[in-house]
Amino acid sequence: MNAPVRPPRVNVALAVNGRAVAVEVEPRTHLADALREELNLAGTHLGCEHGVCGACTVLLDGEPARACLSFAAACEGADVTTIEGLDDDEIATELRAAFTREHALQCGFCTPGMIVAARDLVLRLPEPDERRIRLGLAGNLCRCTGYVGIVRAIQSVISARRARGLGPTAGERGLGPVGARTGSSGASAQSAATAETTVAQAPASAEIPADFRPAHSLDQSFEVGFPPDQVFAFFGRVEEVAACLPGAVVTSVPSPERVEGGMRVKLGPISATFRGAADVRRDEAARAGRIRGAGADGRSGAQGEVRYRVNAGSTPGSSQVNLTVGYALKGPLAQFGRPGLVRDVAARLVAEFAANLEARLAGRPAGADAAAPALNPLRLAFDLARGRIAAWLRRVARKGDASTPRS
Ligand code: FES
Ligand code: FES
Repeated sequence: MNAPVRPPRVNVALAVNGRAVAVEVEPRTHLADALREELNLAGTHLGCEHGVCGACTVLLDGEPARACLSFAAACEGADVTTIEGLDDDEIATELRAAFTREHALQCGFCTPGMIVAARDLVLRLPEPDERRIRLGLAGNLCRCTGYVGIVRAIQSVISARRARGLGPTAGERGLGPVGARTGSSGASAQSAATAETTVAQAPASAEIPADFRPAHSLDQSFEVGFPPDQVFAFFGRVEEVAACLPGAVVTSVPSPERVEGGMRVKLGPISATFRGAADVRRDEAARAGRIRGAGADGRSGAQGEVRYRVNAGSTPGSSQVNLTVGYALKGPLAQFGRPGLVRDVAARLVAEFAANLEARLAGRPAGADAAAPALNPLRLAFDLARGRIAAWLRRVARKGDASTPRS
């Protein structure tokens, strides 16, 4: 039998926390694994390894960077600072005290990455502006605290330092970890100012690219208890369709083929309002249609299309609606591109949409979720997870009942 082929290893020379080190790694090894496994610096946490959660944030040549997205071999000669290297750092020390005082951590898993990102904000922001801090933390997720304590802790450190005459020492080029930046300093500053705009204040509509190809796509289907012709006709009334979708707003319908409006999305500390336009196509004979749109909010942008087809359902007088949803996201909200999360959220969103559609077709107002102020993917994912856990517990309880001998 042939001996297993060992992948080649490369030597990488780095300065880590001010010390020259050399590590031998496979070319595919990311910086976080090199730090944790070769150098025993386990303060750099790994949550998603997809660049989503920010738990692995370190300073790479002085800038916050995702260690899970940086190949160690590509960091040859770089200056790396991990949370351990900030033990004696003045700002990190003030942040640690503020995090304790403001209850800015619970399990602490996100905290090393948060401190690294927060330190960068303290260095850059002239004032303790809550919106700009929240935008700056857009690439660092915390599943415990709700962010209020974290934001307060950072605000208190910035306020105290500015009161002592210690101004920002780094330029305001971009906020947030490397990877969340998509534009120049001007664009970033502008996006910070417009992070929580309303539909009315949102930037001009984004154009729908003719050659749009979705980066991700998923299929969903559901049944409603109304005949296909009635359901297909409903899909032609876009304001009513939008009213079934949490966070969607239609502002005008200049023609049957064009709709203008927006979508409010809330993901952790990020709150964005995409304003844009959609192109609507319908094929009456096939009872099918396509809605393709694009929207933007500062640094975040979204392009997407929904293809639908209404067929006869499994029972007389019912319909099956088949949806194919394709989309591409850029900017801070691109963290929502993680396929598992997107699939869970899409399943929940489609379930809410179907319930609201059914209610409207029956002449009842859509449910409370349709009136929600924003599409909240994390809430939808958590709701779905809670539902699954509850169903599992019910199954376990039923099994327990069945196996308990009757007296
Ligand atoms: S582990 Fe790197 S961003 Fe989540
Ligand atoms: S404190 Fe637990 S994830 Fe932030």
